[in-house]
Amino acid sequence: MRDISMILKSVWKSLFVFSAISVIAVSTVNAQDAKEGRTLFKAKCASCHALDQKMVGPALAGVSDRHPESFLLKWIPNNAALIASGDPAAVKLFNDNGKVAMTTFPELDEAKVKDILAYIKEGEPKAATPAGGAAVKDDSTSGLSIAGIVAIVVLAIVILVILGRASKLLERLILQKQGIEIEEDVPLKVGVRKMFKNKKFVMFFILCLIICLGSFGWMGMWETGVHTGYQPVQPIKFSHELHAGINQIDCQYCHNGAFKSKNATIPSLNVCMNCHKAVQARDKYDGEISPEIKKIYASLGYDPETQKYDESKAKPMEWVRVHNLPDFAYFNHSQHVVVAEDAIRKAKGLQPNEPVCFACHGPVNTMEEIYQYSPLTMKWCINCHKETDISGQKNNAFYAKVIEAHEKIKKGEKITPALLGGLECGKCHY
Ligand code: HEC
Ligand code: HEC
Ligand code: HEC
Ligand code: HEC
Ligand code: HEC
Ligand code: HEC
Repeated sequence: MRDISMILKSVWKSLFVFSAISVIAVSTVNAQDAKEGRTLFKAKCASCHALDQKMVGPALAGVSDRHPESFLLKWIPNNAALIASGDPAAVKLFNDNGKVAMTTFPELDEAKVKDILAYIKEGEPKAATPAGGAAVKDDSTSGLSIAGIVAIVVLAIVILVILGRASKLLERLILQKQGIEIEEDVPLKVGVRKMFKNKKFVMFFILCLIICLGSFGWMGMWETGVHTGYQPVQPIKFSHELHAGINQIDCQYCHNGAFKSKNATIPSLNVCMNCHKAVQARDKYDGEISPEIKKIYASLGYDPETQKYDESKAKPMEWVRVHNLPDFAYFNHSQHVVVAEDAIRKAKGLQPNEPVCFACHGPVNTMEEIYQYSPLTMKWCINCHKETDISGQKNNAFYAKVIEAHEKIKKGEKITPALLGGLECGKCHY
């Protein structure tokens, strides 16, 4: 029995180390490649390529089966050089497509090209249905690590049983050699029963069970309410890529509230009508008004023939909300977008032409349909608050107040909550 408990001890130890290592290893496996690739693809390639249909360039689905990776790694960053070098496959590709030149992308290194290829291979992330409100998760990390832990525990138990049997056999051989009488070998069933009588083994078994169930529960808990990648189907195919990206319409034009108040607000359809009274995308639909734009008209009760509104026919557009904090969490846009703008820009390394919104909402200007980019968990909020340096904002009225209060505290003068923002509506009201 002592041997078994020794073995148990060492197996127990190695199990611990194993599972720790495997959890770390598995959770660092990065499932983001295709997501990065998607962003790059939308920004650089989507103007000429789609996955499943020919546009200016060929449909790219299955392109990794048509060409070896080595070819694609050269073609995508600099197809012109490859064609100029006389590579037969490149020349053929160029000639077969009517000698239309593809743009070169010297800024794409090998890792980025591989990300794009990963996206092409995986295709679009599947959209969730609005009714269920289920989240589309873009990483299977936690599932993997749970599977890893379970596999390791099972493996450990198997090894344990084998080691136990082997050590018994050895013991018996030694005893036999010394000419000592031994009792008959116990059948497996009895052996197992005996093992469960061993308190240490039972402890070990229960601990394994707790680890398994615990890790399920833990990961489940972390994912409850986390909707990264959530992309419900919207009533109109409104594209941020087209409006905020290609047409460069400022976020502020439609989400004015973000700069003034807690809520960013979704624009009313009247804002759309500033353009869509005239912009009807008729050239895409053989002279007809785009069916998507007709939905705007229908919702407002607008008749494009008579150019008149009929209130009685109007019905509100029901956009499906993408981002949604629970009611008990208070988040204020203007505090982040206006007060904290410089600090957040610096912390997240945003370019001057990128709106501060990208820090939390990702590259919205490349999203054909908007999706939740950040996890919106408490941990996410807290981490940014811990990391962001807000010093050096001297011309900021908010900080001017903080400095004023600080001076007064130092001098021991009277200081009121009003000085600390206690009169601002948003401190007390939602
Ligand atoms: C200006 C339009 C344009 C852009 C932008 C563009 N391509 Fe292309 N692409 C083409 C054309 C046209 C071809 C066909 C070959 C030719 O005519 O040179 C092509 C061919 C390809 C092929 C070979 C397809 C096949 O079926 O063999 C791949 C792969 C490819 N492009 C990837 C990309 C990627 C990745 C990007 C973005 C980083 C991109 N392209 C951006 C126009 C474009
Ligand atoms: C032409 C108007 C328009 C412009 C410009 C625009 N948006 Fe939007 N935005 C909308 C509409 C309409 C919706 C609701 C439909 C949807 O979710 O796609 C929306 C939704 C969103 C959402 C998701 C809201 C939710 O339900 O949680 C975010 C985030 C967002 N926009 C950010 C931005 C950012 C950042 C920019 C600037 C880069 C921008 N928008 C520019 C009209 C616009
Ligand atoms: C500042 C001008 C402007 C505003 C405001 C604007 N759009 Fe657009 N929208 C455009 C332009 C330009 C196009 C491209 C039309 C084309 O492809 O011919 C477009 C295209 C579209 C399309 C695609 C039409 C199609 O079938 O290809 C939809 C849908 C659309 N807009 C919806 C909206 C909605 C909803 C709003 C309000 C939230 C809105 N737009 C606000 C300028 C605007
Ligand atoms: C510091 C992170 C952060 C920044 C910066 C940020 N947002 Fe948000 N945004 C959020 C969070 C968190 C929510 C969810 C709020 C909620 O559910 O109460 C949200 C929600 C939204 C919504 C949904 C409607 C609403 O107000 O709840 C829109 C639209 C939006 N943001 C647009 C923008 C725009 C436009 C900008 C830039 C001007 C921007 N956001 C900047 C974090 C941010
Ligand atoms: C990208 C970084 C970033 C993220 C993400 C972020 N914040 Fe902030 N937040 C800041 C900065 C910077 C400030 C400081 C601005 C200031 O001084 O008022 C701030 C200030 C605040 C304040 C005011 C604190 C005070 O002293 O009055 C609240 C409340 C707040 N954030 C809530 C949230 C919540 C809730 C979330 C998550 C949903 C969140 N923030 C996510 C950067 C962030
Ligand atoms: C220090 C906290 C605080 C501040 C700051 C504050 N309020 Fe209030 N406000 C309250 C409380 C508490 C009530 C509810 C009082 C009651 O029920 O009698 C209230 C009630 C109200 C009501 C009446 C609501 C109703 O249902 O009758 C309005 C409107 C209002 N506040 C607007 C504002 C505006 C606008 C500001 C900013 C200029 C502001 N408040 C600033 C605490 C505050």
